[in-house]
Amino acid sequence: DKANYRHFMAKEIHEQPEVVGHTLARYVDMASERVSLPVKLPFDFKDIQRVTITACGTASYAGYVAKYWFERMARLPVEVDVASEFRYRESPLRKGDLAIFISQSGETADTLAALRYAKAEGAHTLAVVNVPTSTIARESETVLQTLAGPEIGVASTKAFTCQLMVLASLAVAAGKARGELSEEDETKLVHGLVEVPRLMADALTTELQIEKLAHRIAKSRDVLYLGRGTSFPLALEGALKLKEISYIHAEGYAAGELKHGPIALIDETMPVVVIAPHDRVFEKTVSNMQEVAARGGNIILMTDAKGAAEATVDSLVTIVMPDMASAFTPMVYAVPVQLLAYHTAVVMGTDVDQPRNLAKSVTVE
Ligand code: M6R
Repeated sequence: DKANYRHFMAKEIHEQPEVVGHTLARYVDMASERVSLPVKLPFDFKDIQRVTITACGTASYAGYVAKYWFERMARLPVEVDVASEFRYRESPLRKGDLAIFISQSGETADTLAALRYAKAEGAHTLAVVNVPTSTIARESETVLQTLAGPEIGVASTKAFTCQLMVLASLAVAAGKARGELSEEDETKLVHGLVEVPRLMADALTTELQIEKLAHRIAKSRDVLYLGRGTSFPLALEGALKLKEISYIHAEGYAAGELKHGPIALIDETMPVVVIAPHDRVFEKTVSNMQEVAARGGNIILMTDAKGAAEATVDSLVTIVMPDMASAFTPMVYAVPVQLLAYHTAVVMGTDVDQPRNLAKSVTVE
């Protein structure tokens, strides 16, 4: 039931502080401030030399974010693939490699086929799934469940942020096991994770501003999303969300790639959504933003107070997000990204929960 919301998607966006909080409580021991996985892993992260992450759509973008986390916190090389490419490429896996599969439904045909392939190759298989009785959950060696609850809207929202919470916890566990993170590092990171649900609730307060902005976005033919670091996969997610429910063409790009092509598209008719928390790569993103502004592009900047003060460009709109530890920004910045797609679709009058041509779970290849 939609409670008092107009669409399941709106309800599911608003539920995120709660369900991400439940997921956090399953993976982190608040009392000892340690990551504590609910299952014993059948391998030691110290022995893993390479990780592959395979998924489709939004779940694959959660995988891309996780790549940054695993590589930084655990110094573990990660390859991310969409399942439809991975399964037919016959990617060489070594016995004992770790293959992670991410799926809300646990029934996505390509992801399931990729899982079966990895199993046959002798890899350890670990699934991050929302439906614990699903085929992918049943067939994986290890299951880490997301506690998002049933997701009805075709556009994935709360499943995505819960996937990120599980993957963040797993990356911290990997960093710890591999000796790349000290106890002190872990405590700091756990503090960062514990803050996330509250920060997501804060992020929801941007909704009125975003609703207004949606009227302008709804008039556009194309929208460009830019981000660096972990905000890059979020830019891809923002573009996917907008196109699937509002039918407005959108593209996500790594901000540093702008000069290598997409800058040719910039004019005053194309809004550019820049996702730029004040993190290690913030200044670099600002210089890309200046390039956009210099060509008359209209910028919608999602950043925190510090970022807003330092960004020396005239942005069309700045969405000021709460201050936070930079490692886990994607979970919090997902909120305005989702809200922007949602409200734009509402203005366009599309069928938000059941967009044309799409199914909630893609069980054919
Ligand atoms: O159930 P899954 O997580 O395996 O589904 C994967 C994709 O089909 C899904 O995320 C899709 O991209 C969504 N419609 C995105 O909002």
